[in-house]
Amino acid sequence: MQEEQRIKELRRTLHEHNHRYYVLAAPTIADREFDALLSELVLLESARPDLFDPNSPSQRVGGGFTDQFEKVSHSRPMLSLANSYSREEVEEWADRIHRESAGETSFTCELKYDGVAIALQYEQRRLVRALTRGDGTVGEDITKNVRTIRSIPLSLPESAPEKVEVRGEIILPFAAFEALNSKKKEKGEKLFANPRNTAAGSLKLQDSGEVAKRGLDCFLYDIQLETPDQWGVQGHSDGVHAAVQWGFKTPLVLSRAFEVAQNVDEVMAFLAHWDSARHGLPFAIDGVVLKVDQHSQRKTLGSTAKAPRWALAFKFETEQGLTRLLRIAYQIGRTGAVTPVAHLEPVPIAGTTVQKASLHNADQIAMLDIREGDMVRVEKGGEIIPKVVGVVLEDRPQDSMPHVYATACPDCQTPLVRAEDEARHYCPNAAGCPEQIKGRIEHFASRRAMNIDGLGSEGVEQLWSAGLIRDVADLYQLEMSALLTLDRMGEKRAGNLLAGIEASKQIPFERVLFGLGIRHVGETVAKRLARHFGSLESLIEASEEALLELDVVGPVIAEAVVDWFAQEANRARVEGLKNSGLQFQVVELEDTSVSQVLAGKSFVVSGVFSVPRDELKRMVEQHGGRLLGGVSGKTDYLLAGDKMGPSKREKAERLKVTVLSEAEFRVLLS
Ligand code: IVH
Repeated sequence: MQEEQRIKELRRTLHEHNHRYYVLAAPTIADREFDALLSELVLLESARPDLFDPNSPSQRVGGGFTDQFEKVSHSRPMLSLANSYSREEVEEWADRIHRESAGETSFTCELKYDGVAIALQYEQRRLVRALTRGDGTVGEDITKNVRTIRSIPLSLPESAPEKVEVRGEIILPFAAFEALNSKKKEKGEKLFANPRNTAAGSLKLQDSGEVAKRGLDCFLYDIQLETPDQWGVQGHSDGVHAAVQWGFKTPLVLSRAFEVAQNVDEVMAFLAHWDSARHGLPFAIDGVVLKVDQHSQRKTLGSTAKAPRWALAFKFETEQGLTRLLRIAYQIGRTGAVTPVAHLEPVPIAGTTVQKASLHNADQIAMLDIREGDMVRVEKGGEIIPKVVGVVLEDRPQDSMPHVYATACPDCQTPLVRAEDEARHYCPNAAGCPEQIKGRIEHFASRRAMNIDGLGSEGVEQLWSAGLIRDVADLYQLEMSALLTLDRMGEKRAGNLLAGIEASKQIPFERVLFGLGIRHVGETVAKRLARHFGSLESLIEASEEALLELDVVGPVIAEAVVDWFAQEANRARVEGLKNSGLQFQVVELEDTSVSQVLAGKSFVVSGVFSVPRDELKRMVEQHGGRLLGGVSGKTDYLLAGDKMGPSKREKAERLKVTVLSEAEFRVLLS
């Protein structure tokens, strides 16, 4: 009995300290003391499994696995927001609200967090469910993962309502994002693109123990009570103040991040403040959200199918930085493609320091007349690589000279070539250019191909410099004794690397094929080729005509595949890999199909979605649809997410391909 009392007491105390630390940022005990109390709780709980509680503070470290996230309907749809991009639009919106609402209108002003929406349901003051937005009507239950986010209360105090749904945004602060990426860099793995995608990906991990380590945080933006009057909540601002008392992390913990504006001037002052203050925030925002405060007025205004009329998002302009272009260098990709790269004086943009930016190609450099020594404008969109978008001509140094584009490969000195209809230059020395070979090995080892842990760009560089590898096939001949002669290569790291290489022998044929880096053979094409031909032998035998039978294969791909296998060196390479035990045959998989509603339809999936893109691709296949690599006359649907390039959309429109949003796609499935 005493044990039970102590467990309860510890849970209460730890919840409280957790709240002080993660919500209020005002801890009252040392980390060590907290850890001691937590250890005591874990010990007691292990002796009393009958008292298990999924909302115990001990569960914050995660540990549970979720195989498949259950689909659950939302209590009310999770709508999106109408966007605006100028102050005039905001004024027009506010004017309309004034015209259509009775009495004075006040607006709440808050930040538009750039993260992932979440609905948190509490019953009997305990967190019972956390749902993603999904298509707005049906979300996915990710409760286990959400429980690990320290700023989300798992239980509410007695003073709180028994039942409440709180919605908010899960974000990954810059510091946590950078910590994750520096670990990835150390391991030589591909870096995460941006905090938002990383947050979304983290929430869909199967291992909640891993989620717990990511450093996610959450701000709430909506409180839904069954009987708001009972709690004195007449408007959004009342709800937010009440939520603070109930232990939630609200924007009130930040200075000026939640304000009630009585008129448009006050709204504008808020916009002006955050237009510059956003650069100092520890997490990403992509705008500001304005909402009519009073619930009664919101009711009158109502909603469209997509978004409420009482709210408006104001989006800031894409973040730009101004800095000096020190040098133009060139990168050679694994296909020989040359990318000019701007080396910049370090400049902070959107929360990270930028030192390199893409210059696209020779035409772009010529068009903008970009020169070394220029002051340039650098823009950071949703992608990881910033771009140089302009030159400040007034600040050009007097002695500056137009840039002369490289004529030879900076690595192997082979003269560069450029096909007439292509914007890019290429190094044609595929077999001998070290940069290309290293790039191919790196691609082969990458997560989506052979997934060899610890073999990113730095790992490959190290093995290459030591002369241990000259081709992918050499990886399978590596020995412990040779690895141990390398710098920073102890038995542990070497053992991990060899284990990763050994494990890669089980990777299915389609990924091996993708890993070979045949030009134009991406994941989708590799998968289809593997399934269609079944084995390496049949694929080697295949003629261009046989290849063209696949709808994902056009003449360019067919020629590339036949050419690749016609080369003696490539034949020898795959032979070597086969002898090392890699998979060159399709193994029949279990049927994972869910329905056939998309049978006979072909899809191209592009852009950023509420869930990882791979998941949408899997859904297409599970419902009988086929995936294509690019938009063509054979495409039925283009499933378009955010930040999809405009050229894809234009092409789809030209070819009369139906463009679907994620929500429309989900409707199609249901
Ligand atoms: S209110 C019905 N407030 O933006 C209105 N949304 O574009 C519901 N978001 O899916 C949204 N910060 O994930 C609201 N302060 C904020 C927000 C916010 C970020 C996200 C939210 C929503 C998306 C809509």
